[in-house]
Amino acid sequence: MAVISVEKLSEHVGVAVLDVDVERLRSDEDLPAACLTALEEHGVLLFRGLGLDAPAQAEFCGRLGTLARMPRYPIPEVMQISFDPDNPNAEYFRSNDRWHLDGCLDAAPPPKAGVLTAQVVAAQGGETEFASTYSAYENLSAAEKEHFAALRVVHTFEAVQRHSYPDPTPAQLAEWDRRPARTHPLVWGQRSGRHSLVIGATTSHVIGMEPGEGRALLDELVQRTTTPDRVLRHAWSVGDMVIWDNRGLLHRACEFDRAQPRVMNRTTLLGDEPIQLVAEPVGAGRPS
Ligand code: OGA
Ligand code: MN
Repeated sequence: MAVISVEKLSEHVGVAVLDVDVERLRSDEDLPAACLTALEEHGVLLFRGLGLDAPAQAEFCGRLGTLARMPRYPIPEVMQISFDPDNPNAEYFRSNDRWHLDGCLDAAPPPKAGVLTAQVVAAQGGETEFASTYSAYENLSAAEKEHFAALRVVHTFEAVQRHSYPDPTPAQLAEWDRRPARTHPLVWGQRSGRHSLVIGATTSHVIGMEPGEGRALLDELVQRTTTPDRVLRHAWSVGDMVIWDNRGLLHRACEFDRAQPRVMNRTTLLGDEPIQLVAEPVGAGRPS
């Protein structure tokens, strides 16, 4: 097994990988497994200044797992994140500025991981932030863990888009309505034995709770997960590559001037683990 050296980027989440250059990325056959192990442990891996182009990114990420394909992009495995009007998804990327997990609205399990490489960076702002809901779950009280294990949350496309378009046209509402709502448990008990919280901008309401009360709880959980001391903010330089564990890390794009170019190439590792919480016997949780 390859060994990679890493350096912590913040107290709760993220490491920089120090000893991987493009040559090692291409030739070290054991590197993908080492990266996946480090990803599980640290949540975010930063490779500074690698400078991968889109085909090289798709090639390396294809060795980490199966990649999502977006047929409307020239290399379907590599989606450009930009506000260029020619970008087929530009209008939906606005909501990337809210804390979210990717894929909560899909029928398939959420992606295992996301990968971004910076092609063009904003002159100011445009950082990406990450915060761990594994660690947020660990910090819950025993009573909260027990209460939250019973909660189910509805996620909608409207919930996420309304942040960016608070006054939608009937055509926008009809378009948003075409994406079916999804219901997920609030707590995701994963095969690894870890638990994460399935929260963020896609959440609409908590089933069985009064809407205001459910909203307040969902907002409070995001707020507790993302206090400044728990957030890793990555300020991009051209060529940086970041991989994050999408099963337990919220992420968001920081503000920047959207009239100016900012281009990220994004690859997505498909997930194979549905969001579910298998009931544990009473008393099996860790003491807290
Ligand atoms: C994403 C995303 C944030 C950013 O690619 O899923 O949310 O900073 N990107 O571009
Ligand atoms: Mn995202």
